Amino acid sequence: LVPNTTPEAIPAIEWRDGVLRLLDQARLPQEVRYVDARDVEAVSDAIRRLSVRGAPLIGIAAAYALALAARAGGDLRAAADMLVATRPTAVNLRWAVDRVLSAASGAADPASAAEAEARRIHAGQVDADARMGEAGAALIPDDATVLTHCNTGSLATGGIGTALGVVKTAHARGRRPRVLVGETRPLLQGSRLTAWELDRAGISHDVIVDGAAAGLIARGHVRAVLVGADRIAANGDTANKVGTYPLALAARAHDVPFYVVAPVSTVDPATRLGRDITIEQRDPDEVLGFDGSRVAPAASSALNPAFDVTPADLVTAIVTERGVVRAPYARSLPSVVAPQQAVAS
Ligand code: MRU
Repeated sequence: LVPNTTPEAIPAIEWRDGVLRLLDQARLPQEVRYVDARDVEAVSDAIRRLSVRGAPLIGIAAAYALALAARAGGDLRAAADMLVATRPTAVNLRWAVDRVLSAASGAADPASAAEAEARRIHAGQVDADARMGEAGAALIPDDATVLTHCNTGSLATGGIGTALGVVKTAHARGRRPRVLVGETRPLLQGSRLTAWELDRAGISHDVIVDGAAAGLIARGHVRAVLVGADRIAANGDTANKVGTYPLALAARAHDVPFYVVAPVSTVDPATRLGRDITIEQRDPDEVLGFDGSRVAPAASSALNPAFDVTPADLVTAIVTERGVVRAPYARSLPSVVAPQQAVAS
């Protein structure tokens, strides 16, 4: 039995001396169960199945997976390739893998170097989340209803989260935020995961079907839209969970601010424009069925892009751990991007 504490008390990921414990998010909220991953194959499989998900968290998981490979004396380059291929849109994955590879390469003890770097990436995300939380909370009025999409909380980052971290910070400061949670078809990261986190944190919320969002925005029920990101191009175009772009369009049409909350590791200076971002296409069965049963006619096919791209001109501001940036992003993003990322461009 899991006591009803904050979601942070049920960590999404834990490194325990050579075993990576991953909270199986595919089973939430019905079951709180951990998967113990002991090699790169097990971690890759967990990422593909979305047992571990959310751009920052898959980066952290992949970093620890390389530490597992290094301990086993495996080929780190091959392990890195396997991990990076699991999910093509979230750039944090490649960023974390590159960091661990470069820490391990040429180290006297590659296994210790890889493990130390993975721990640094993990701790860095926890710290970044806290900073984004403060910076973002300053943008949200007291007693505001905000709308969010997918899951951007502890389950997506290992810290307090990005967009959801902003809500938690506002709540902790006594600012009484209320949240409309888009259910996030087809895999329901909103109704399963975000609602679970908000419930445990004691934050008032209502789950809505994705299709209800624009109408609620139009009727003045939403003071701000807050989302995370899987990759931000150099010009500020932002890939995030499919269904984010329509929220940005509705927000613009009704003069509601649309904020993207993401660590600088999500900014990819090597991707110039949003249209250059690879969009992950997932199994059509995720769309054609529900809860394991077929819903659509047997002969129907489906398109299942996991992400869409919101053009930079619809983004009111991007909240990072190094500050809040605004358009024109091609000029403002370099001021917060880490020097090593800028060099990579
Ligand atoms: O397919 P998922 O659940 O991994 O998609 C996650 C999202 O789209 C999140 O919004 C994004 O990774 C940011 S999480 C802080």
